[in-house]
Amino acid sequence: MSDAKKCVLAYSGGLDTSAIVVWLCEQGFEVHAILVDVGQDEDLQAACDKAIRYGATTAVIRDAKPAMFESLVPTVVGLSATYEGKYRLGTAIARPFIAMEQVKRAQELGGATLVHGATGKGNDQIRFEYAYGALAPQYPVLAPWRVWNFEGRIDLINYLHEKGYEEKFVVEKDYSLDENLWHISVEGGVLEQPNKIVDVPKVMTAVADRFAQGGPENPPQSVEITIENGIPKAVDGVVMSLQNIVALFNRNYRHADWAWDLIVENRMTGIKSRGIYINPAAKLLYVAMDALASSCLAKAAYDQYVHLGQQYGNLVYNGECFSDQSIMLEAAAKAIMGKLNGTIVVQLAPTPYAAQIVASDAIFQESAATFEASDYTHADAAGFINLGWRSAIGKPFVEANHENPVEAAVPASSDVCSEQQHVEGGLVSSAV
Ligand code: ARG
Repeated sequence: MSDAKKCVLAYSGGLDTSAIVVWLCEQGFEVHAILVDVGQDEDLQAACDKAIRYGATTAVIRDAKPAMFESLVPTVVGLSATYEGKYRLGTAIARPFIAMEQVKRAQELGGATLVHGATGKGNDQIRFEYAYGALAPQYPVLAPWRVWNFEGRIDLINYLHEKGYEEKFVVEKDYSLDENLWHISVEGGVLEQPNKIVDVPKVMTAVADRFAQGGPENPPQSVEITIENGIPKAVDGVVMSLQNIVALFNRNYRHADWAWDLIVENRMTGIKSRGIYINPAAKLLYVAMDALASSCLAKAAYDQYVHLGQQYGNLVYNGECFSDQSIMLEAAAKAIMGKLNGTIVVQLAPTPYAAQIVASDAIFQESAATFEASDYTHADAAGFINLGWRSAIGKPFVEANHENPVEAAVPASSDVCSEQQHVEGGLVSSAV
């Protein structure tokens, strides 16, 4: 039995966590590496072997995909949850499950320090440590990036070279990638300079060899997604688990023109960052889910649904999955997701859109929506508006005794806006 302090390191096989293995050994730790399979397309066994070569005492692989796809992803998909209206939460989704597997491994070892390789600048450190705090507050936590003297990745390469390890890493060409079954994020390089034009296809080509090509050459340009209780259940009539649906779409459409987003986001630390997020499955599923929710939920409920998606998105982004708030939001989500049942045809070109929505609980009324004659009484609208404008507007501009209510309501126009243009046929429009 060694006297060394045990630690469980969330190991990825990459530069940072490899340097951490060596550094931890130097600090007198007995290092237990854990490779958590969240669907990253990597040779995990090779990564385990590398951890051992770098000095780890044990290295194990644990599969967190089932837990991720059973407990968190269904609500994320069911609410089309995003952060800041655009980030589909890819990295954030996986972190709590990596932490959970670390905690389980520490328990197997009879207790250990929990170590992660996230830097002091980003969100991941917070997500890891909120999960550690929720699941195992008794275990010490170590975040090497916050305590060692290395300042950047070049320092790490030099350190590993000094220690006799050959670490392949080409600084100027490299981007920071994070991959799981739900998404791939690309950060760093030109993305760190938003005032520079970024040629996304070029970046995608630069990183292409880092993730599997896979997928058919000409995947179908239309998919039929069946949703039950807010959870995708079948594709083109074939029943599949959510995990398999996501895997299928990401494999088929990873290289599609519409598969990515270029986003500037506000990290929890307040630092802004720009990244490319590749998540075609999430895009397709969100399009289908939102079309269904729009069709099935009454206006006020749909507003709440959108709000819930934002709140849940914030929660996941902020790493608060194991929290009281999460229990509350998930209960609300479940209640409303029960109304989302139907089959949506999503056409993929030029970007995914819901071409057909067949929903058992749809409250879309063709008779009301139609521009043609129907049993709807147009005159009913008058009462609605007569009452409605008072509560919506408050004190009318006339009653407020403005000398000229119209002028008071409309800000002074610029010369260009007020200029009247006479167009052929005698119609008058104002140039904007
Ligand atoms: N900015 C995204 C997020 O906070 C992606 C982070 C990617 N993490 C990484 N270690 N490369 O969720």
